[in-house]
Amino acid sequence: MKILITGARSGIGYKTGLTLAKLGHEVILTVHTKEQEETLNRKLEKLKKLNLNISCFKLDIKDESDRKKITNLDIDCLINNAAVGYSDSILEIDLKKLKENFEVNVFSTIRLSQIYAADLFANKRKGKIIFISSIIGIIPVPFLGSYSATKASLIALATSLRKELKLITNDIEVKLIEPGIYNTGFNDYVFFNKKESKSKYFDLESITLKQKKLFRLIGSDNLNSIVYKIVKSVLDNSNKFIYRAPFFQVIITKFYMLFFR
Ligand SMILES: NC(=O)c1ccc[n+]([C@@H]2O[C@H](COP(=O)([O-])OP(=O)(O)OC[C@H]3O[C@@H](n4cnc5c(N)ncnc54)[C@H](OP(=O)(O)O)[C@@H]3O)[C@@H](O)[C@H]2O)c1
Repeated sequence: MKILITGARSGIGYKTGLTLAKLGHEVILTVHTKEQEETLNRKLEKLKKLNLNISCFKLDIKDESDRKKITNLDIDCLINNAAVGYSDSILEIDLKKLKENFEVNVFSTIRLSQIYAADLFANKRKGKIIFISSIIGIIPVPFLGSYSATKASLIALATSLRKELKLITNDIEVKLIEPGIYNTGFNDYVFFNKKESKSKYFDLESITLKQKKLFRLIGSDNLNSIVYKIVKSVLDNSNKFIYRAPFFQVIITKFYMLFFR
């Protein structure tokens, strides 16, 4: 299979790509900036010597001309992994931040998926669209409401898209990944984004410190469980729609859905 992953400089996207390449698939890791492209290409040179079919190019998902790069590439599976995270109190969040969070995680992700689906229809090809949401899209976290809302939106949009596609074709599958907390550095950066915020109502500094500690404690340092689920969703031809990991956080989520929703 030929798989394209967005925001795959490091973390979950990179590790998933590497695993798929090791399984013999052709993988395109796309990254946010030109500098990241250069750095990653240097790293990939070593992997190519191991006969892995893995390449990289810059795809800023906010940029329409970058998004168009995915047409006519004969991609079998698009993994929408790129994301940003903003955090603040909903009472005081700067709407620019909230809009930017939606611009990347939702609007740009959906636009890229539209371009990919149109390409599949135009070339009469089968394909798969995978959305990386989050357990935080199911269990919204206070002071992470902006990020939580984007991930909740992705759940709704992916679910609608899947139902719509089923009416017209069996050739495009949609899968939804809901990872729990993993210590990739992403959450630290989400908390860092709150740093300059000033609150009239909350002691944001101490809240951030406590949340950071909690996330570090709950978070999994090992990405294998979520990478395994994403790889499974890429290769799986069954009707299964939602894939979650790690196990302990999935149990908490199910408990929450049963009793608090
Ligand atoms: N880590 C967790 O606990 C966790 C939990 C649930 C879900 N997730 C989701 O899993 C996915 C991967 O996260 P991760 O933890 O592996 O962190 P990560 O490595 O930081 O992944 C996010 C990537 O998206 C990139 N990105 C941001 N804006 C972009 C844009 N406009 N165009 C292209 N790429 C862009 C980032 O690049 P820059 O560094 O340049 O911004 C970064 O490489 C994300 O969707 C995240 O929401 C993570």
